[in-house]
Amino acid sequence: MQDQVQEFVKNANHIPSIPSQMTHLLQTISSPNSSTAEIGKLIIPDATLSARILRLANSAFYFRMAPVTRINDALTRLGFKTTRSMVVTVWTQSMKAFTNNKTEADAVSHMLNHGTACAVIAKALMDRINRPIAEDVFLAALLHDMGRLAITSQLGKQYMDDVLSFAEQSNRDTSSVEEQVLGFNHSMLGAHLMQSWHLPTLFKDIAQDHHKQTLAPENNPALASVIIADLWATEMGYNVALNSYRQKREELVDFFKISDINQFKEDCKNKITTMIEILNS
Ligand SMILES: [Fe+2]
Ligand SMILES: [Fe+2]
Repeated sequence: MQDQVQEFVKNANHIPSIPSQMTHLLQTISSPNSSTAEIGKLIIPDATLSARILRLANSAFYFRMAPVTRINDALTRLGFKTTRSMVVTVWTQSMKAFTNNKTEADAVSHMLNHGTACAVIAKALMDRINRPIAEDVFLAALLHDMGRLAITSQLGKQYMDDVLSFAEQSNRDTSSVEEQVLGFNHSMLGAHLMQSWHLPTLFKDIAQDHHKQTLAPENNPALASVIIADLWATEMGYNVALNSYRQKREELVDFFKISDINQFKEDCKNKITTMIEILNS
């Protein structure tokens, strides 16, 4: 199946890639020697990004604080890692430009909201057990279905009819239908993209394994958090092919020892709504 992934990428003309300006910005944010002023200088020329970062810093996430109006103050409040998450989240929205009509645009929009919702939920789960990597997991969750976005950018309606709708009608999971129709699945393509974008191994592993059917959560809590996030985001309506088959994963949920799951989901839902509002503003 790897050969089919290579072949698909080789022949595709709409495969998303990270622009070099953004790579530079991400490198600057990730460098321990960078200052807020240096990062601010790279963000300020991008009006959309600046506006969204300011809105996030002034949003309900930080509601107890006084409003900020300058990017550098927003960066100090958010911290470099959250700023990095926001930069990538804003960039993913540019994939809406690859669509040819409203049906495709709606599907891509649902997929992007799915990524945002998964990112928020996976981070909230990881915050409970391993705060230092929670922001990395946010990003890996944001990008976990990048393979599916790439297939949609390339095949559009054909993918939506032959895979997504067919999976719903036949109560099958989308990955097995993809394998039957395309010869590979979106997890494999996603893993390939994470590697070709030189992102850390965590991103590749999560893109590759987020539909893995058996997992001992203590061996890979980050993956467990994304698998749960994938299911809960879908349950909240943030996904496409909402009625395709999905395996329940209660054994993974127990690992995170959440005393009030409904309240936890409610809190996540509020954060997701805020984040999506900011991204669409
Ligand atoms: Fe997936
Ligand atoms: Fe997903």
